[in-house]
Amino acid sequence: MTGRVVVTGSAGLLGRRIVERFAADGWTVVGVDAAPPRGDEPGVAERLAVDLSAVADLAGPFAGADAVVHAAAIPDLGRGVPEADVLAHNVAATSHVLFGAAAAGVRRVVSVSSQSVLGLSRGPDLVPPVRLPIDEDHPCRPRDGYALSKRMGEEIAALVAVRHGVAVASLRLPVVWDPDGFAAHVAKRLGDPAQAARSNWAYVDARDAASGVFLAATRPFDGHRVFNIAAARAFCDEPLDRLVLHHYGPIPSTLDLDGNPALFSPDRARREIGFAPRFEWTPAGIRDTHTEISP
Ligand SMILES: NC(=O)c1ccc[n+]([C@@H]2O[C@H](COP(=O)([O-])OP(=O)(O)OC[C@H]3O[C@@H](n4cnc5c(N)ncnc54)[C@H](O)[C@@H]3O)[C@@H](O)[C@H]2O)c1
Repeated sequence: MTGRVVVTGSAGLLGRRIVERFAADGWTVVGVDAAPPRGDEPGVAERLAVDLSAVADLAGPFAGADAVVHAAAIPDLGRGVPEADVLAHNVAATSHVLFGAAAAGVRRVVSVSSQSVLGLSRGPDLVPPVRLPIDEDHPCRPRDGYALSKRMGEEIAALVAVRHGVAVASLRLPVVWDPDGFAAHVAKRLGDPAQAARSNWAYVDARDAASGVFLAATRPFDGHRVFNIAAARAFCDEPLDRLVLHHYGPIPSTLDLDGNPALFSPDRARREIGFAPRFEWTPAGIRDTHTEISP
């Protein structure tokens, strides 16, 4: 299947990988981003500069699209934007994009959400999971304006699905690691054990995140579905059972922690849309599980 896809946030870290993924399969990609076009955005057939938080009429950009992927957002706090404005900005953009897609007759939308809806925060507080593994039915307890914007985005997605009959996937992503930043990502994670625990030792390679988006846009499902899109294993340099006990204390679990499996589980995405994360990060390098060769 190929077609026309609109990717919002197409100039961003994840957006670029999403564009690459669709273009590789022969899709016509329309990129929408608030940033002005740079002229070096491979895979983008058409590029529009639009601030989606301010523009509600998206009939033009979305006309004739087979799918809309919404990845545009202010992706965390700490970028000089007040927290209340991050919340308002992201919610407005998501509302405009999802309602706009429905109004334009688009039948499939993928909206990028975040693991932060569970309680992950950049603040000092640790919100331990209530049980393991952490699946999509785990309670959500957003702890900051960014996380709340993502949770509200999921509710907007559910509303648009039920009101307009659009199939909408909300993808919960942990921190997205691009191979270009390998050394920095690994050093940051290993250098901050408390943050590693807050994030459940989860991550996703940007290329795997883009594959998850592609599958959610192309595999059949109805209504609103939430999927965790994450690596198959936790990233840590100690046995996970010891780390979990140390940071979370004894919590109910049905997960065998031998081999450091992902606590933030991508199992539903595997079962329902065939998501199979390909890249496994270790402190020594990135393992390509398809070729078994470290790129
Ligand atoms: N990077 C991560 O670790 C991570 C983790 C979980 C979820 N996410 C989510 O993934 C998505 C992509 O994040 P990213 O890391 O690529 O961020 P990024 O900042 O690299 O890219 C976001 C892009 O969205 C654009 N954008 C922001 N607001 C816009 C608006 N109102 N209108 C049009 N364009 C707008 C920006 O110009 C930018 O190009 C976001 O929804 C983010 O919340 C990211």
